[in-house]
Amino acid sequence: AGPCDIYASGNTPCVAAHSTTRSLYNAYSGPLYQVKRTSDGSTTDIQALSAGGVANAAAQDSFCGNTTCLISIIYDQSGRKNHLTQAPPGGAASGPQPGGYDDLAGATGAPVTLNGQKAYGVFVSPGTGYRNDGTNGIATGDQPEGMYAVLDGTHYNGACCFDYGNAETNNLDTGNGHMESIYYGTCTIWGTGAGNGPWLMADLENGLFSGSNPGQNTADPNLTNRFQTAIVKGEPHQWALRGANSASGSLSTYYSGARPSASGYDPMSKEGAIILGIGGDNSNSAQGTFYEGVMTSGYPSDATENSVQANIVAAKYAVSSLTSGPAVTVGSSISFRATTPGYDTRYLSHNGSAVNTQVVSSSSSTALKKAASWTVRTGLGNSGCVSFESNDTPGSYIRHNNFVLYVQAGDGSKQFNEDATFCPQAGLTQGNSIRSWNYPTRFFRHFANNGYIASDGGPHDFDNANSFNNDVSWVIGKSFA
Ligand code: AHR
Ligand code: AHR
Repeated sequence: AGPCDIYASGNTPCVAAHSTTRSLYNAYSGPLYQVKRTSDGSTTDIQALSAGGVANAAAQDSFCGNTTCLISIIYDQSGRKNHLTQAPPGGAASGPQPGGYDDLAGATGAPVTLNGQKAYGVFVSPGTGYRNDGTNGIATGDQPEGMYAVLDGTHYNGACCFDYGNAETNNLDTGNGHMESIYYGTCTIWGTGAGNGPWLMADLENGLFSGSNPGQNTADPNLTNRFQTAIVKGEPHQWALRGANSASGSLSTYYSGARPSASGYDPMSKEGAIILGIGGDNSNSAQGTFYEGVMTSGYPSDATENSVQANIVAAKYAVSSLTSGPAVTVGSSISFRATTPGYDTRYLSHNGSAVNTQVVSSSSSTALKKAASWTVRTGLGNSGCVSFESNDTPGSYIRHNNFVLYVQAGDGSKQFNEDATFCPQAGLTQGNSIRSWNYPTRFFRHFANNGYIASDGGPHDFDNANSFNNDVSWVIGKSFA
């Protein structure tokens, strides 16, 4: 049985079921998600390898070969057509894409295995969001509902709001109690839990809640699991937060009891839209990773959820390699040669903090040779990827800020470390392409001889689709100095 078969036998059936990694019903053999490739804009649906099975990641890899892909639709497996698509602008924020839409997730940012078979999750960078404002069967008003999600417990930030669940149908903040969704991260604007977080909380609109007290509730634990099961459920005068390590063990109840002791949350005024990666008003500065999740009709029993957790454990989520292509070995001293015709004697280099490309050869000055030489380090923000330390300025690394590359001294902050983490993959035309860990739609690119992380088409001049594949393909060789 799948999670939704278990919810159905508990008389709290799924009314939305989203996953890019597996079928959530034993009998489901329809599409899990759609990917769109940037080379020609065409799309394809990714299905499970068999009914009830794991996604066919190989179909994605072959469709997306030598280009990049975005996750354009996350299909609803419940039959109610509650699909998730690119989120529109909202009251708090517009997205970076045309019309103020949010970004779509890159299709390869969150590789995992389930029972040894490769699949991809939904890696939400700041600016990314999915939504459905015209749903069928999702709870409204004070109706009971439940939801769970499997998340990457190590991918989060403190911004508002990495959510999955029930939100406003007009993309505006329409007041307290107009949302009921899972939140994951370290946002401290509203409620908090124990320690420094990250925490599972409920986004109930104008507040993230960890208990009935709208402030801190230390019974809500500081979470550290790589794979985190997150549960929020609510019914009249009652709600609960539950969680577990998705890879082993059983659920704990972090809170179960009365609605928050602030006005507007009892009764609730749920509206029934579905959001992923954003707040109710499209607050879109948060980050996180979603693998699977559902929303139910009715308040699931703890026993039903315990069986769902056992099902998740049996799916055997495990980490998978974030890199591919020619090896980029930690400890080696390297150079990056541009491969775009007309630019292929240029190497990634820097002048002070500015990253650029310069023509470098064996007869160049020692200073220039050093400026174009980098030492590969274990990724400062994720040990599955790498960072590049400047050979002429030890302790300084290549990082991006507003998508522009800089060489800056490491400051140990989470933001710096993540901005300085890159996942080399097989080059789109040759060599390696150097994917940004925290913005996996973006790669090292030279544009007008300066360094950026660029996407294949996008809001900045340096995202220009012309010459993209060549500009993001680098031959990595021995360093000059
Ligand atoms: O409740 C927290 C956030 O507050 C909601 O997600 C958003 O709609 C509002 O800004
Ligand atoms: O480069 C994109 C983002 O810009 C970085 O992650 C952050 O440091 C800055 O806001």
